[in-house]
Amino acid sequence: MDRLKVAVLGATGLVGQHFIRLLSSHPFFEIAALVASERSAGRKYREVVKWVLSCPIPDSVADMTVCPPDPDKIPKVDLVFSALPSDVAQSLEIELVKRGFVVVSNASNNRLDPDVPLIVPEVNADHLELCKVQRRRRGWSGLLVKNANCTTIVLTLTLKPLHDRFRIRRLVVTTLQALSGAGLGADAVPGLLIVDNVIPYIKKEEEKVQTESRKILGTLIGEEVRPADFAVVATCTRVPVTDGHLESVYIEFEHEVTVEDVVHAFEEFNRRNKISGLDLPTAPPKPIVVREEVDRPQPRLDRMEGNGMSVVVGRVRRPEAMSNCVTYLVLGHNAIRGAAGNTILIAETLVKLMPEVL
Ligand SMILES: NC(=O)c1ccc[n+]([C@@H]2O[C@H](COP(=O)([O-])OP(=O)(O)OC[C@H]3O[C@@H](n4cnc5c(N)ncnc54)[C@H](OP(=O)(O)O)[C@@H]3O)[C@@H](O)[C@H]2O)c1
Repeated sequence: MDRLKVAVLGATGLVGQHFIRLLSSHPFFEIAALVASERSAGRKYREVVKWVLSCPIPDSVADMTVCPPDPDKIPKVDLVFSALPSDVAQSLEIELVKRGFVVVSNASNNRLDPDVPLIVPEVNADHLELCKVQRRRRGWSGLLVKNANCTTIVLTLTLKPLHDRFRIRRLVVTTLQALSGAGLGADAVPGLLIVDNVIPYIKKEEEKVQTESRKILGTLIGEEVRPADFAVVATCTRVPVTDGHLESVYIEFEHEVTVEDVVHAFEEFNRRNKISGLDLPTAPPKPIVVREEVDRPQPRLDRMEGNGMSVVVGRVRRPEAMSNCVTYLVLGHNAIRGAAGNTILIAETLVKLMPEVL
């Protein structure tokens, strides 16, 4: 097939750089435009980006001129990947969608709108049906599809097989989140504040985990997603790790479980999930990798599993005398599975399942 022309909004940021790395040799997509703030606009990409990835800037983009965040100046492309801060994304994304652009976005605005699909492809690709509802209700010629919060993506990949089998009643999650999760801009955590330290609060993060996980695990009924009805308590902390969010999860189910049941459910999910058989380029062979060693997963050792698209689970235990509970740790790469990689996987799913909306 001819590759689709794509634009990356927020191309100079942390997530934007991961988009560029992943898209530079992609079989479905070809980068045609880079967009950043007015500070960077009009200059060559390599001159304005503070490149932080270990690979070099791809030659195909290094000399591209960065476009301003002005809908009149962004060339017509088949697809837009957005990695903008949410306050900027709110107006620019909607304006682009009104003008006919298909936008797949990382920013948190509009994620909970009833007609905006919020997608982790292996978990809820069926919610992409909302694309048709959105176009009809809003009268937009374009489309807005959202990538979820990074912590939530990593968590929900493991919750889906467990909720389907044992019905989750309550869930408590405590996170240890990497520095790259705050990006390179105004939200970045200064080194002096995080070295030798843990910051026990991340603005708006706990609310996102609580609301978005219930939407993602919700059921599409007719034209609406009915949110999953379990209770979620989240505590989110920032730790001095570069990449990879580690999450300690405790779940109470309606039904009894064993450790073997839980591991078996994860393995079944690897064989059968919502995008099995589509053969998508960014889909990892195993979305969930279970480690048996007592000292795994570790961010430095495990975050690149499945090219950063798998989540790694370890220390699966059933607390003594609590036959309907389980606890485990899960790790995922926040900027790949939690951001650019999951967003590209959503776009690949659209190409395969709903080419008519592109
Ligand atoms: N970091 C993660 O792991 C992660 C994970 C999931 C989701 N997200 C979400 O993804 C988005 C991007 O995050 P990030 O970590 O990549 O942030 P970042 O490193 O701060 O990058 C922000 C990008 O947006 C551009 N930008 C800033 N202000 C702008 C404006 N007024 N108009 C147009 N462009 C503007 C910046 O361009 P200049 O260089 O020109 O300033 C830069 O390209 C955010 O919504 C974030 O919440 C991040």
